[in-house]
Amino acid sequence: MSYQTISYNKEDGIGEIKLKRPDKYNALNIKMRDELYEVFLSIKDDPDIGVVLIGGEGRAFCSGADISEFGTAPSRVIARDVRWERDLWSLIYGMDEVLICLMHGYALGAGLEMAMLCDFRLAAFGTKFGLPEVNLGMIPTATGTQTLPSLINLGKALEIIFTGKFIGCDEALELGLIHRAVPQNELYGEGKKLARRILSLPQVSIKFIKEAMRRGLDLPLWEAIGVEGVLFRKMRGEFGGAHR
Ligand code: COA
Repeated sequence: MSYQTISYNKEDGIGEIKLKRPDKYNALNIKMRDELYEVFLSIKDDPDIGVVLIGGEGRAFCSGADISEFGTAPSRVIARDVRWERDLWSLIYGMDEVLICLMHGYALGAGLEMAMLCDFRLAAFGTKFGLPEVNLGMIPTATGTQTLPSLINLGKALEIIFTGKFIGCDEALELGLIHRAVPQNELYGEGKKLARRILSLPQVSIKFIKEAMRRGLDLPLWEAIGVEGVLFRKMRGEFGGAHR
């Protein structure tokens, strides 16, 4: 499959997606949204892939939604229907594979929101992060109002979203928004190293750990503990068909 706004390669169990509109700082336009939807669907159906790296080509990871397309949908109803038919953000959040986002330059708006749906966020020194939608009279709608306060302190999340300000790597690290910052020329190597480490572990454990943590965090602790137990028994094949 060939794409116009992204590239996709796979090797040794690792899928690698790159956003590819470098002259627009990889702003996420409708075409890119649709191509990302397609590529994530194809990865979901590919038993060979255990880890996915997501990065951007050129000067930035992603500068957010493409501002030049705002207001271009034929009607609000069509815009809403398209969004629900191709709900990229739920698709990414529901992926079984481990997702590692590699950011450099800027990670803004929908770009940062996509990163927050991933399991790991690594960044190059100097990367700036922000949800600037408020400056445009909008709100983050690629899950950011929910995922940011689930990753960092609520007060800090409110400050970032209310002010639309950019924060740097040091602050992002301190807040726990990113896992690691490295020199830009080491970013992909670091991502690959982490991917290989994950792939060297029993994949069935990785899959069930991800499901337990994703599902459990939305539940009261008692119910979440129950989910963990059910998943453990499912993993051992107690409901028929052991998972390997
Ligand atoms: N949508 C559409 N185009 C974008 C874009 C976006 N989100 N972000 C950058 N671009 C385009 C610019 O229009 C410019 O295109 P041009 O060369 O054809 O004029 C090109 O990318 C480079 O951007 P420029 O603003 O000249 O670069 P900069 O280094 O001065 O600033 C940013 C970089 C990312 C700080 C700035 O582009 C910016 O603030 N972008 C918008 C971010 C935003 O609000 N995103 C959230 C949308 S909800």
